[in-house]
Amino acid sequence: MDSKIRTEFKNRFGADGIRYASSGRINLIGEHTDYNGGFVFPGAIDKYIEAEIKPNGLGVVRVYSVDIDEYVEFGLKEEDAPSQQWARYIFGVCREIQKRGGKVEGFDAVFAGNVPLGAGLSSSAALESCFAFALNDLFNDNKIEKFELARIGQSTEHNYCGVNCGIMDQFASIFGKKGHLMRLDCRSSEFEYFPFDPVGYKLVLIDSVVKHELVDSPYNKRRESCERVAAKLGIETLRDASMEMLESIKDQISAEDYNRAKFVIGEKQRVLDVCDALNSGDYETVGKRMYETHHGLSADYEVSCEELDFLNDIAKECGVTGSRIMGGGFGGCTINLVKDELYDGFIATAREKFAARYGHEPRVYDVVISDGAHRIG
Ligand code: GLA
Repeated sequence: MDSKIRTEFKNRFGADGIRYASSGRINLIGEHTDYNGGFVFPGAIDKYIEAEIKPNGLGVVRVYSVDIDEYVEFGLKEEDAPSQQWARYIFGVCREIQKRGGKVEGFDAVFAGNVPLGAGLSSSAALESCFAFALNDLFNDNKIEKFELARIGQSTEHNYCGVNCGIMDQFASIFGKKGHLMRLDCRSSEFEYFPFDPVGYKLVLIDSVVKHELVDSPYNKRRESCERVAAKLGIETLRDASMEMLESIKDQISAEDYNRAKFVIGEKQRVLDVCDALNSGDYETVGKRMYETHHGLSADYEVSCEELDFLNDIAKECGVTGSRIMGGGFGGCTINLVKDELYDGFIATAREKFAARYGHEPRVYDVVISDGAHRIG
């Protein structure tokens, strides 16, 4: 991928640029908690977006996507927004930097990636973070703080891509550190690195390769439910809600909103439990909480689907320690914590049973926790 990008850049723009990369992410636990002011527990992975970039002094952005084999040019004013979705991520990052008083001038870029699309591994956050990091280095002397770079990616999703996401994906992509997960408090923005090396276990993703249409933007609808419940309780976010508080307004809210909030309140505690369990090497508890999260995401938050529930059932049958749907939902991967000795059998069974039922095999990715955004050279 690296040499392809370099050759392409040289052929198109007749020079060499500087190369940057930023990663996709996993999340051990803490789903749909970020926009509720709760905790998340992500890490960056060894699947990433790489871009070669060079200022061109022309006041326009000229960018080529190797994977999509498409070239786009756009200016840097609000009315210059490109129509191609992938280019809007880059345009949004440029605009969000400018809106914050940062500088962006014209540049040439070629990029490619190996983050599977639609798998819930945050390929879009990797793209945003890669460009935010690069443009900070190239035009702003790295004066924009790293957390602000994550917010720039998040605002790009809100303002240019129609997804009211939380901060988790961009945070993980920017701050990721090899061998470490991060516990982020999404209310205070404080975070802590946790060395993650579960001796005797493997972390593996099973990708259903299913991507359900997000008609009516169900992600945004989940967020609205949470906000409605928080407003009813007179609090800013569900971070401050307890089950007792939720019970006290049960008859004033819809059953659906009740179930959404119930999941979020439970999930908040599960992240903290998992951190404690990791500190004492208690992987059985980590796994139990993962299964509970899956159940909540499926039954109460309703962001799972038949294929992911099926993969979760297979994991249970195979004695996998923990398994759950990962990311926003509506397709994508399960994340599984598996004892070394059960790994081969589990993967073989998952492949076979899934293929027998759905006519195609799932994809399997071993998780390697890696560095986040950085300059390659
Ligand atoms: C998507 C969003 C994140 C987060 C997760 C669910 O990945 O981009 O902000 O809300 O879903 O945990």
